[in-house]
Amino acid sequence: MDAYKVVVTKRDTRTYTDQPIPDEVLQRILQAGRMAGSSKNTQPVRLVVIRDREWLKQIAECGKFSQPLLGAQAGIAVCCAPDGSDFDAGRAAQNMMVAAWNEGIASCPTSVHDQPCIIEKLGLPQDDVGEASGRKGWRVVVIIALGYPEPSVPMSMGRARVPVEDYVMWEKWGGSEVRGKR
Ligand SMILES: Cc1cc2nc3c(=O)[nH]c(=O)nc-3n(C[C@H](O)[C@H](O)[C@H](O)COP(=O)(O)O)c2cc1C
Repeated sequence: MDAYKVVVTKRDTRTYTDQPIPDEVLQRILQAGRMAGSSKNTQPVRLVVIRDREWLKQIAECGKFSQPLLGAQAGIAVCCAPDGSDFDAGRAAQNMMVAAWNEGIASCPTSVHDQPCIIEKLGLPQDDVGEASGRKGWRVVVIIALGYPEPSVPMSMGRARVPVEDYVMWEKWGGSEVRGKR
């Protein structure tokens, strides 16, 4: 698929078939995450890939809306160092979801509401303190559920986006596209 088409057709899909994700495809997805840029190239992101489906169900207990993980073929916990920013983690996460969709694999990010729960389950290091943030220990920013989309279920909840005229402003907050008209 052409890159623009992959990006604009990617929806957050929550129901998957039982078809496994081939190892080489998963490797390409992970490589897409690894290649994401980061602030000052600090590379504060690490990934924990969970393929054991029973384990994934236990991991899902750390979030309130983690149903996508229950039927996923894999989950990728996007972990961030104490001083790392959620933006860096988000870039890696979106890279992986877009690369996955390019292979026909659907995905949904899932929130982790209970950090102590996920820190304990995945064994994230908690001994280092971020010099800049003062934050202690690694965290999980999001867990990506991955799998081939189940064709009998809609690919997305069909949630609309903000109209482009409201989403984009020009030159200043509230500015319209016509030059000088604000
Ligand atoms: C940071 C983040 C966390 C999310 N957490 C969850 C979640 O816990 N469970 C879930 O089902 N969807 C989750 N989503 C998916 C959103 O609900 C989804 O992006 C939104 O509804 C748009 O979906 P669409 O692209 O299919 O229209 C999350 C999305 C983001 C960006």
